[in-house]
Amino acid sequence: MTKLGPKKDKYDKILLMYSGGLDTSCMIKWLQENYSAQVYTFTADLGQEFADPSRFKVIEEKAYKLGVMKHFTKDLKEAFVKDYIFPTIKANGLYQGIYPLSTAVGRYLIAIEAVKIAKKEGINVLAHGCTGKGNDQIRLNITAKAHAPEMEILQPIIEWNMGRDEEMKYAKMHDIPISKQNKKYSTDENLFGRSCECDILEKPEIEPPEDSREWTIAPEKAPDIPEYIWINFEEGIPVGSNGENMNSVELIGKLHNIGCKHGVGRIEHMEDRAIGLKSRETYEVPAALMLIKAHKDLEKYVCTKHENSFKTIVDQRWTELAYEGLWIDPLRDALEAFINEVNRKVTGSVKIRLFKGSAEIVARESPYGLYDLNLATYETKSTFDQTLSYGFIPIWGMQSELGFLIKKKIGQFKRN
Ligand code: ARG
Repeated sequence: MTKLGPKKDKYDKILLMYSGGLDTSCMIKWLQENYSAQVYTFTADLGQEFADPSRFKVIEEKAYKLGVMKHFTKDLKEAFVKDYIFPTIKANGLYQGIYPLSTAVGRYLIAIEAVKIAKKEGINVLAHGCTGKGNDQIRLNITAKAHAPEMEILQPIIEWNMGRDEEMKYAKMHDIPISKQNKKYSTDENLFGRSCECDILEKPEIEPPEDSREWTIAPEKAPDIPEYIWINFEEGIPVGSNGENMNSVELIGKLHNIGCKHGVGRIEHMEDRAIGLKSRETYEVPAALMLIKAHKDLEKYVCTKHENSFKTIVDQRWTELAYEGLWIDPLRDALEAFINEVNRKVTGSVKIRLFKGSAEIVARESPYGLYDLNLATYETKSTFDQTLSYGFIPIWGMQSELGFLIKKKIGQFKRN
């Protein structure tokens, strides 16, 4: 039988995917102590500096203070947007209709980059700070293994069996600084959103407290006057706003700021994790929500009802793969072939009204829109020949009417 868990008691070198938070900071010490290993750390810049631009320097200093051999910070913002956020927008990726996959898709890029660094440094053991209960472990492990089957992946949190309270003690014992937020919540941030869980959020019957939100203003405190913004798309990809082309990272930043100001993108979710646990999660995803809503609206405008109906099914399947850790599955490529084909005509602009927590689509325009004013108008000048209805309705309803009659007949037999 294969032994589950770590294969050895001692490792030479381990590359730890390091966020600078409580778990992975304790982990540096723990890996050094338990496996006598030289620990290397890697932090991915996926745009977390929305909250604090200097944080990557602080993370690096913290890593060296805890005795790591070498720390790597990689600016992956452009790649994150191009290869992960754009596909999510094109697939209208909202897991269970609510969560825009912000943490989920970031994990794949982190795993791939960690493998690259490890290979370059001659390291064949990776470690990360995921518990054995969540989705992130699945995403990181499957992706890393697929790209480097020879790599061993350690999950110290499963091994050390410390609760958050014990971690806190361990941190104090080893002089590991704990930030205020760290004390309470487990968070993850990138360009596309902020996830927050643990502490009081674990009680689904209690409304998330204000201190669990860091980006967005409370909707009741948002400006009393609505603000409008147009988002411009080309082939399903957001390219600018209010008619002005922008670099995609900047555009997301712009949407983020305006969304936060109006309290947009606060999500509270009773979520089904891949492993079957239900968990209570909260998110702040102002830019993601605006982008996906706007994209979906524009797509619906330029597609036929048949395309729209089938796209919903494809999107849902894509979203589940992306959520459940199966980014590498060839099914994603196949689904994306369809998604990209449909998105070739998703070009145009969508106008959003931001007001006290809501981001409402109020208008759209596209050279490929299938709406035809001449046909649709209720004015007398309409070119739509209404007499065609006399023929259409009986044919359209024919089979359903037959079925209805049979249903009635069966009902009568049953009664006898
Ligand atoms: N439930 C979300 C997901 O699976 C967010 C996970 C957030 N992770 C965290 N460490 N707080 O994608």
